[in-house]
Amino acid sequence: MSPTGAPTGAPKLSQGQQGEFLTTSAGARLHDTDHSLKAGERGPTLLQDHHLREKVMHFDHERIPERVVHARGYGAHGTFVGYGTATNVCMAGFLGDGVETPVFVRFSTVLGSRGSADTVRDTRGFATKFYTQEGNFDLVGNNIPVFFIQDGIKFPDVIHAGKPHPDREIPQAQSAHDTFWDFVSTHTEATHHVMWNMSDRGIPRSYRTMEGFGVHTFRLVNAEGATALAKFHWKPKLGVHSLVWEEAQMAGGFDPDFHRRDLADAIESGAYPQWELGLQIMPDTPQQTFEGIDLLDPTKIVPEELAPVQPVGLLTLNRNPQNYFAETEQVAFHLGNLVPGIDVTDDPLLQARLFSYLDTQLTRLAGPNFNQIPINRPHVPVNDMLRDGFHQQAVHAGVAPYRPNTLDGGNPFVAKAQDRPLVEVAQPLPRAVKVREAPKSFADHYTQPRLFWQSLSPVEKEHLVAAFTFELGKCYEQAIKERELLVLANVDPVLCAEVAKGLGLPVPAKAKLKKVTPSPALSQVGQTWPTDG
Ligand code: HEM
Repeated sequence: MSPTGAPTGAPKLSQGQQGEFLTTSAGARLHDTDHSLKAGERGPTLLQDHHLREKVMHFDHERIPERVVHARGYGAHGTFVGYGTATNVCMAGFLGDGVETPVFVRFSTVLGSRGSADTVRDTRGFATKFYTQEGNFDLVGNNIPVFFIQDGIKFPDVIHAGKPHPDREIPQAQSAHDTFWDFVSTHTEATHHVMWNMSDRGIPRSYRTMEGFGVHTFRLVNAEGATALAKFHWKPKLGVHSLVWEEAQMAGGFDPDFHRRDLADAIESGAYPQWELGLQIMPDTPQQTFEGIDLLDPTKIVPEELAPVQPVGLLTLNRNPQNYFAETEQVAFHLGNLVPGIDVTDDPLLQARLFSYLDTQLTRLAGPNFNQIPINRPHVPVNDMLRDGFHQQAVHAGVAPYRPNTLDGGNPFVAKAQDRPLVEVAQPLPRAVKVREAPKSFADHYTQPRLFWQSLSPVEKEHLVAAFTFELGKCYEQAIKERELLVLANVDPVLCAEVAKGLGLPVPAKAKLKKVTPSPALSQVGQTWPTDG
């Protein structure tokens, strides 16, 4: 520990906490911070009291907007060490054998506000910033491997449906559930994600016992320029564990900070949590499908029996943040923060995310210079041509932030192709017709939810049925419950019948069921999928 009580290795204390005496923000020594300046003992208070005005002004502006989603979160620092096993498919330096990279991870719930409880039934965020020698790489994932929607243009809709009711501002998890179930019963592509949410995965025991998933398919490039498609997985060394519903309710009551306390305590006591990073690798074919599964559809997984998760490195979280606001609140993740060797695909959900994070951070962090905030700064030199703007920290040298220039000796220089291979893959693009529609291959909404149901043990099935019954039971609208029962009937008749019994409603007529033909490979996937860490 340092003399200030900060853990060794923590960043140096910055302005406002150095020197012997209390000062104004401009460094003038203060002799009294307890009494305002008045015209006589009984006032009035004088406008000329700069310290009073500065102190109150600053306090008045301490709050910034919370994230529009994932507002409640908790972070930790750590390291990532590559195994070198991925170098044949990916040239990213941080995956090299023994290469150690500092990281910051932020775990979160999705729907609750900053002050909500940790143990609610929800998806969890698992966002990692790797401060690599090639710039920052952000892996912005969740603890559930699929998403509710297939196109980012629906993101505002699904979040509007899941957030607290607009009239009473009461969260879905505690009151009426009509908008959430209205949305998911009318958007059957959400069924797979909902099945995971209603399973025990929706109420993790601890952040330390959660899996993480990049969800989308990414494109990897090796040093020869050969490409492969890949999905990212985090596997917790402690295994995957969940609470049961009663535990989640009780924990939320007696300790709404249950998960953040658990993580901070574990790290403080030296029980550093660890996750292995793994990759599922699929060939980069023109169709971008694998065993009949559309790899651009974020509502689908690739079963691990068909593409095993291959370990490529180890994450260890070993240092708590020194200041929640400076680090956990101000961290800004973005899927576009990529390093050479890792590229995006045309997944329409991913494509919309590429816009959304930059856009929202412009407001949340007040201006375009948020990458200069200490937690967001890369650990390599930055030589960009971005200038000025709110909260500019840099004092830029030179007169010519443009290229080419003849005034600053040509600086900034760009890397020559032989120094740094570009990520872009030189593939001629077929001329595309502009359409507003989904690919036909996105239409099967039930095969994978059914496989998920079949993979559960009897007690896990019981929990899932209980969760559907409890949550749907909170809907006021009978028609919504009936529509969701039809969705469940398409997944599995037993699941539907059990939930219908719990709700006291009849099972929907068989004639209404949708006919789907699953891909042949999926019909061979056995009871072990999805695997447990
Ligand atoms: C925040 C994951 C889809 C918009 C986050 C965070 C995570 C996450 C982990 C929290 C980041 C943090 O801790 O600061 C995901 C995953 C998605 C997904 C895994 C789907 C696979 C989307 C989509 C959009 C979106 C489709 C919009 C089109 C946002 C926004 C934030 C956010 C605006 C707040 C960011 C900030 O204020 O810094 N997301 N998200 N997300 N996400 Fe997503």
